[in-house]
Amino acid sequence: MLDAARGEAVEIRIANESIRAFGNESIAAAALASGTRVLSRSLKYHRPRTFFCLEGHCSGCLVRLGGVPNLRACQAPCTAGAEIEGQNAFPSAEVDLLGAVDFLFSRGLDHHTLMTGSSVLNKLANKVVRQLSGLGRLPQSPVSASELPEVAERAVDVCVIGGGPAGLAAAIAAAQRGKRTLLVDDQLRPGGSLRADPRSGRDRAETTWAAAIDAGVEVLARSTAIGFFPEDDGGVLAISSPERLYRVHARAWIWATGGYAVNLPFQENDRPGVIAARAVGRLLVEHGILAGDKVCIVEVPQVARDAEALAAALDHAGAEVVRVALADTLGARGRSWVNGVDTKKGRVDCDLVAVAAIPSPASEGARQQGCKVTLDPDAGGFRIVVDEAGQTSTANVWACGDVTGYMGPARAATDGARVGANVAASLGG
Ligand code: FES
Repeated sequence: MLDAARGEAVEIRIANESIRAFGNESIAAAALASGTRVLSRSLKYHRPRTFFCLEGHCSGCLVRLGGVPNLRACQAPCTAGAEIEGQNAFPSAEVDLLGAVDFLFSRGLDHHTLMTGSSVLNKLANKVVRQLSGLGRLPQSPVSASELPEVAERAVDVCVIGGGPAGLAAAIAAAQRGKRTLLVDDQLRPGGSLRADPRSGRDRAETTWAAAIDAGVEVLARSTAIGFFPEDDGGVLAISSPERLYRVHARAWIWATGGYAVNLPFQENDRPGVIAARAVGRLLVEHGILAGDKVCIVEVPQVARDAEALAAALDHAGAEVVRVALADTLGARGRSWVNGVDTKKGRVDCDLVAVAAIPSPASEGARQQGCKVTLDPDAGGFRIVVDEAGQTSTANVWACGDVTGYMGPARAATDGARVGANVAASLGG
């Protein structure tokens, strides 16, 4: 069976159970759709862990995949025969006997001072702690030199980092004006928040991606901008893609890295089932998965319109939705999965909590290029400072979209198109 956007139907194995999935879906989405909720356990107290952001930024979804530990289930596509196991758990992530640590040391465990009254017991305790701690087990086999990726050089006019609405629009604008344009995006499929917002949707993401390719943009998907090296050859951006490493030289750079989905401060906000609202939207919009029947959206006023759109889409899909202001939220309830939210007005029963917070600008890369940033609570964190044209404080480095302050997909796309055109003009004919 082939659904153009979902990809080919494949079979994967999670915790030794075969499940049916789709090639363009992440393992995290396939796991949830098949009823697997807990993916692994936390390092110390073995608390249940699962995905939060679905964008590769929170590390809540680490699994052992094909014998390799600590891979992000939300950034790994479903390939036929993939073997996925939880980690930091015995015998399984769902039923972890080591979770007894959390009960035995309910007031916290300082392993540095464990049983220090007796040197024999202390040695024994250290041995046990060393056995139990660590993040996953080492890979079954080491990487051989022949498996190391090759390095390729790329020289372009414009390099756009980030393939969300702003980045795609900027790349299209630059390419349409005759500039050799490279776009780097770390997600499974470019589109960013377009794929999580019911007002835009998966089709908009697919058509915008196709428009970029039609305009002549070279798109590197599943590729991460690792770092900028100013001392190297006049400035090189290192990029890791599934096939090879790239050293990119560009006449102009555009940071369109958007913002990270972040959690909000309330008790027990690390319970599985407390998920970023954008991830809940992504499951629904991108994968057609309704992640809960009773959804409680905990929100801040700055994103009320986004929360409203998500609530309407969830309601339309058949979920019961309650919206609660963060100011009224006391804490989440539940253990291996959330089952309610305590508020100042009483308890809300739910099987999913969607956290609607202002995304925090992903400005680290631009900071590495020396761009000025400013801490702006209304922008969700350190946003890149730009002038009216979108130019940062560093020559030939530009920025657009949410990384300059939260805008949402529609305004980010407009901003990207404008900045992309400005960059093309700055480079001349
Ligand atoms: S990193 Fe995978 S859910 Fe956040």
